[in-house]
Amino acid sequence: MLVLAIETSCDETALAIVRYDRGNSGSIGPIEVIAERVSSQVPVHQQYGGVVPEIAAREHLRVLPVLLDEVLDEAGLSLQELSGIAVTQGPGLKGALLMGFSFAKGLASAIGLPLIGVNHLEGHLLSPLIRGSALRFPFLGLIVSGGHTELIEVAAPGTYRLVCRTTDDAAGEAFDKAAALLGFPYPGGAALSRAAERAAGGRHSLPRVMLERPGLSFSGLKTAVALLVRKEFDPTDQQGVSELAHAVETAIVEVLVRKTLEARKERGLPMVAVAGGVAANRALRAQLARAVGEPGATLFFAEKEYCSDNAVMIALVGAWRLAEGERLGPRASVYSRWPLEEMVPPTRTTW
Ligand code: KG4
Ligand code: ZN
Repeated sequence: MLVLAIETSCDETALAIVRYDRGNSGSIGPIEVIAERVSSQVPVHQQYGGVVPEIAAREHLRVLPVLLDEVLDEAGLSLQELSGIAVTQGPGLKGALLMGFSFAKGLASAIGLPLIGVNHLEGHLLSPLIRGSALRFPFLGLIVSGGHTELIEVAAPGTYRLVCRTTDDAAGEAFDKAAALLGFPYPGGAALSRAAERAAGGRHSLPRVMLERPGLSFSGLKTAVALLVRKEFDPTDQQGVSELAHAVETAIVEVLVRKTLEARKERGLPMVAVAGGVAANRALRAQLARAVGEPGATLFFAEKEYCSDNAVMIALVGAWRLAEGERLGPRASVYSRWPLEEMVPPTRTTW
């Protein structure tokens, strides 16, 4: 089947056309990516130091038809040749979600195509399966993105049990807020990480919040960085910036690795899969590999190009759910909040 996928939950407008062959196993993925586009709004929001929801929605509306023409052109397909449309239904910014959702709904009803709504987090969680992988269910999923950080027991496709999630800032948010304090433009996570790699050593030690207690939190880290910056920070001292960046990265990575190890042991899950924007972080990848095991054997990562927001991960989940016979009803709308543990597997869906 040929599926068009649309993602507009935050500040990336992304479209993809993929081919999925369900085969006999009924498993998720692999999918063949025929065409894809990601248009980032980062330059638009950077001047405000974060995503402005109103502007994000308007940008999605402006870019969606352009990207649709481009992916159809590249795939050499017309809309009529598609088998279905998958669109991010939540969680995310309501106005941003509504742009992609209404666009997809309009297309589907005009052409008479089946439509499926996809949970953005389910897209991230299963993104290590995009190109096919030795990853098997059940596994422990670690989603580390700008908006969400959570450990999920993935019992089977569509059956998710929450292990823990951050009570405040997500890991990406913690990276970005610390990066802003150090003077990096939004979103500064990747830049902070590059600076951390240049550090000669670590002078600072930052708090590892909740390391000895259940749960996940990063807000104490931001406060500690803010205090340090106020006390003794010189933005022109490159080495000083790198050392502080190194301390931030070390603290975030250590908490993520420890919590992942604990969850894996507690739930008795042999495999771990890591996804979301922060999964691109090199220190996190290296430390997890050291703690959990060989990448590709017991430890799996989303490919770097599919760590950050994209439509291919939406296509992966959408194609599988469409093939299972799931469809969106005519009165469906978006959910700004949509926890993974509240999802139902497609075979149990009623509409
Ligand atoms: O998954 P994503 O693209 O968007 C959300 O769904 O939130 O994640 C974006 C987040 C941002 O906070 C960004 O700074 C962070 O991922 N990020 C990184 C790195 N690359 C992206 N954080 C640390 N190290 C990186 N290499
Ligand atoms: Zn995301």
